[in-house]
Amino acid sequence: MLSVPTLPKNTAKTDTASIVRKIFGGRRQIHLHTNDFSAEFSTRVKKSPEGTMTNTIELTVNESARLISDAGDRTLLDVLRDELRLKGPKYGCGKAQCGACTVLVDGLPARACVLRATRVIGRNITTLEGLADPSSGELSPVQQGFLEREGAQCGYCLNGMVMIATALLSANASPTRDDIRNALRHNLCRCGSHLEIIASVERAAELMRERQHG
Ligand code: FES
Ligand code: FES
Repeated sequence: MLSVPTLPKNTAKTDTASIVRKIFGGRRQIHLHTNDFSAEFSTRVKKSPEGTMTNTIELTVNESARLISDAGDRTLLDVLRDELRLKGPKYGCGKAQCGACTVLVDGLPARACVLRATRVIGRNITTLEGLADPSSGELSPVQQGFLEREGAQCGYCLNGMVMIATALLSANASPTRDDIRNALRHNLCRCGSHLEIIASVERAAELMRERQHG
């Protein structure tokens, strides 16, 4: 049985960085089953001009406000891929088991295939498309690390690996090999590229430190 870290109830947004640090820095088992993402989420149902209730919600995705019509019970993955045309997050198992759909919610990894879109209203959602520098287009250290160390074969798992590694390095800039293995342990790679993936995260950590120190 995989352990499930959850945000404590009533967690303020500003507390999420320390939670990420605890999850990754404390070497606890992680499994990112966001059905149990227990922060308080509110559903904002907008009123049409005629006063009738509509099912339109507003999400903040990659620092832009995006209106989603007919959110209903749709998953965040469905909304991101099919409505916002963000194809970074992948559909793998649909059951929170493989990690291909991983996004960041307030910096914390979340499995978008099992997370209803209405539960992330008011949160900052980051997808793979939001990692590069928006003005220069420069790849993030993690993206660059995977590129340099060829951390993928078919690439299907790549989104999840990159997003988890991004959260890991934001909490721990100098992870050990065990830290990396532990962070990625619940993300599946069917091609068996694990050694290259670990080397990619190690390179990403180097790049991040280099950029931080000029
Ligand atoms: S598609 Fe979401 S965890 Fe597999
Ligand atoms: S590179 Fe193919 S699933 Fe990981």
